[in-house]
Amino acid sequence: MQSTKPHAALLASPGMGHLIPVLELGKRLVTNHGFHVTLFVVATDASTTQSLLKEPYPHINIIILPFVDISGLIDPAATVVTSLAVMMRETLPSLRSAILALKSPPKALIVDLFGTEAFAVAEEFNMLKYVFDTSNAWFFAITIYVPTIDKNVEDKHIIQKQPLSIPGCKSVQFEDTLQAYLDRNDQTYIEYKRIGIEMPMADGILMNTWEDLEPTTLGALRDFQMLGRVAKAPVYPIGPLVRPVGPSVPRNQVLNWLDNQPYESVIYVSFGSGGTLSSDQMAELAWGLELSKQRFVWVVRPPIDNDAAGAFFNLDDGSEGIPSFLPEGFLDRTREVGLVVPMWAPQVEILAHPSVGGFLSHCGWNSTLESITNGVPMIAWPLYAEQKMNATILTEELGVAVQPKTLASERVVVGAEIEMMIRKIMEDEEGFGIRKRVNELKQSGVNALSSKGGSSYNSLSQIAKHCELSLH
Ligand code: UDX
Repeated sequence: MQSTKPHAALLASPGMGHLIPVLELGKRLVTNHGFHVTLFVVATDASTTQSLLKEPYPHINIIILPFVDISGLIDPAATVVTSLAVMMRETLPSLRSAILALKSPPKALIVDLFGTEAFAVAEEFNMLKYVFDTSNAWFFAITIYVPTIDKNVEDKHIIQKQPLSIPGCKSVQFEDTLQAYLDRNDQTYIEYKRIGIEMPMADGILMNTWEDLEPTTLGALRDFQMLGRVAKAPVYPIGPLVRPVGPSVPRNQVLNWLDNQPYESVIYVSFGSGGTLSSDQMAELAWGLELSKQRFVWVVRPPIDNDAAGAFFNLDDGSEGIPSFLPEGFLDRTREVGLVVPMWAPQVEILAHPSVGGFLSHCGWNSTLESITNGVPMIAWPLYAEQKMNATILTEELGVAVQPKTLASERVVVGAEIEMMIRKIMEDEEGFGIRKRVNELKQSGVNALSSKGGSSYNSLSQIAKHCELSLH
């Protein structure tokens, strides 16, 4: 007998920032809404992805699509966005074959930002098609509005040095926009514009946000005449979806160290999946941490301008070394109060640890939500992609973060400014206010996900209903 459970297929593009929220969506569909889920993931060498996929996910059928070599199709200097867009395009034939091979055909296909070209596959198999914007509603709004601006502006540079206004939403400062929006002939821009056209063609748009986090933007997306015309599909805020603390995470050095630190005394410093700083900036950051006299955990990567220094991080063989890009004596002087972790750390477990009281972050959306859902105030240090917009939401709209006065690639933020920001969130009066607000937001996120009328829970119930109706 055929199962009466709705079957949804999820397609995640490569990268932890996309895979984590898509997996969490799959888990919720299974656990709370009675779905059977098939998750398609493109094969990758990344050890972080591989270990994430090794964890048990009951009732999620994970299918790894073959790796596609796109090196001959893109410029060696292509951006991550271009590479992901091309890779997802080249994956379509294997996605199609994999869907054909499934015993029970899925009723819906849910793709992330880079997977919208798979809508054609969904249509071919008569499936409902959804897009899951794993970031926030404001970024979604600009993404779908850019094609309209593109039509109205004749200049080669579609965005001039002026704020970009999106109907009904907060305008986006020129400095906060994606670099790709600067030149309409740029391949990254062309891919973004295509995505902005395709996303509103979905049967529904899911976002990793919630009603109380972005009420104005969500309202604009639904009601505002102009945006309403751009995005006809219903908008479903379903967040905050973050990876929970893993029951099986081994007690490693960082967590053991945190166990011995006082309550909310440690600032955690990390720049996401792959963020890097210049050598000069790393030296100033080290100096700022030292000056602040606060306890810290710092996930360190080789500086962008000195890759060779990465040799230090090959610690698997037990060899030790002093990274040349950290100020001389820094590790010795901070040994009692700080921990430098090479490359990657168990971030969710760190942010959930009671000893952690602040997060200096690149403001990737997952990191942002992980900080909020653990009630941790932030120092916003955006690097690329939509991270500057995320930082603006955190500082100007939500008041849960402070940020350096100016962040520009050519400017180094000096140690004294870093010290001041760290002290502000860790010990000043202003920090208490920030901590109070972030804890209120944490609670509003819990409420949104509650099965007792939470807005995000209800959004997923509506999607489930939609899929069940299409079963008949
Ligand atoms: C990019 C974008 O900037 C982000 O906003 C977008 O939504 C996804 O792609 P990324 O660098 O992947 O960001 O950052 P983020 O979205 O924060 O995701 C990183 C994930 O990796 C987080 O879930 C974080 O907990 C995890 N991580 C990162 C670790 O577990 N350990 C680390 O050391 C670093």
